[in-house]
Amino acid sequence: MERTFAIIKPDAFKAGNAGKILARIYAEDFRVVGLKKLYLSKVEAEGFYAVHAGKPFFDELTTFMSSGPCVVMVLEAEGAIKKWRDLMGATNPTEAAEGTLRREFGTFVGENATHGSDAPETAAFEIGYFFSGLELL
Ligand code: PPS
Repeated sequence: MERTFAIIKPDAFKAGNAGKILARIYAEDFRVVGLKKLYLSKVEAEGFYAVHAGKPFFDELTTFMSSGPCVVMVLEAEGAIKKWRDLMGATNPTEAAEGTLRREFGTFVGENATHGSDAPETAAFEIGYFFSGLELL
């Protein structure tokens, strides 16, 4: 079993799509081992996305991620990292395949509904950024 870190981003939460996204997560047989609703500060968003600091979209991304509540989750499944990224679809919703979450719930590359870790090391950092071991059940 593998764990990955996922976010229902502020655009999807604000649009009332968190429940639909969670339903898809359960339908795809992920186990939700951690979940909480957060309203990130700009500094917390900058810390989370530190790997992108200096990129042209960094300010836009961290401003967006601190613009409203989001849902952070730890998902468990066999091959969870790839399985979740496949379910999300391409970063740019206009390029994401039919049936993926970003295609259905995202708008453009800056507001793309969901986030997912891209590798085991990233997942470990991202899970540890938001959850303590005691919160993962
Ligand atoms: S990179 O440089 O290839 O690593 O970047 P990429 O993987 O495409 O995107 C990383 C995250 O930045 C977000 N992003 C943007 N936000 C706002 N504006 C623009 N133009 C933009 N381009 C990329 C993108 O949604 C990714 O967010 P996460 O949460 O990691 O999916």
